[in-house]
Amino acid sequence: MAFRVAQITDTHLSRTRPLFDGNFPPLAEALRAARPELVVHTGDLSLDGADSEEDLRHGRAMMDSLGLDWVAVPGNHDVGDDLTLPSRQPVTAERHARWEGCVAPLGFFRDVPGWRLVGLDTQGFAANPRHREATAAAIRGAGERRIALFQHKPIAEEALADTAVNYWPLLPEPRAELLAMFGDRRPALVASGHVHQLRDREADGIRHIWAPAAAFIVGDAYHKPVGRKLLGWVEHSFHPDGTHEARVHAMEELTPHELGAIPEAYGALTRLG
Ligand SMILES: [Fe+2]
Ligand SMILES: [Fe+2]
Repeated sequence: MAFRVAQITDTHLSRTRPLFDGNFPPLAEALRAARPELVVHTGDLSLDGADSEEDLRHGRAMMDSLGLDWVAVPGNHDVGDDLTLPSRQPVTAERHARWEGCVAPLGFFRDVPGWRLVGLDTQGFAANPRHREATAAAIRGAGERRIALFQHKPIAEEALADTAVNYWPLLPEPRAELLAMFGDRRPALVASGHVHQLRDREADGIRHIWAPAAAFIVGDAYHKPVGRKLLGWVEHSFHPDGTHEARVHAMEELTPHELGAIPEAYGALTRLG
């Protein structure tokens, strides 16, 4: 019997500024109908949890309302962004503590037959020794199980050897630290969010799945299309023999908000040159 995980991501929820909340009820309905063993939220649960405890509490309440077993890792809009990026909301101990107090631990691991599912925070991974050590221990303790990582940012845009430093992937330094935790192994799967584009490919011996967002897409004028711009979620089936399948559920019932047309969310976006 496969262990079925529903991966949802980038819901950007807020009770006081519910710009994207209308997409949550149909998503929740689809998840309840699918009856996965576990729901994993890969971050940007909230519109602005980095500065709003209320947004985090609201996101937590929405996850609880699913009536399904769930875990989550934070996104940059939940806890702030990596300290080496020019963010107006850098990740801090205070922001990490707020996420943990309002929503869930920063990471998780869950053993299912043949697999260990490991969740981690890609924004504060380098800045938080406690979280880094907990992640290392989860990876070390996997034994013969294959490891599936669930995280907000993709582990790399194209290849593990990438040196680019930008908003989208895990940065080279924390990537190197994360890979060092695996020794001569590799994660079998890295399932991420953040890009608001669907992508599914193999590279460096890893299957990389970028899950589609639930809240909005970013138009081509502002973000080059790398994968497919659609809304929905991903159903992962983990088999005891170490195999894995992923099925994308595109949801036309969700409103395809385009972030470039909604400056009240995160300000006016910069057009690509
Ligand atoms: Fe997002
Ligand atoms: Fe994000």
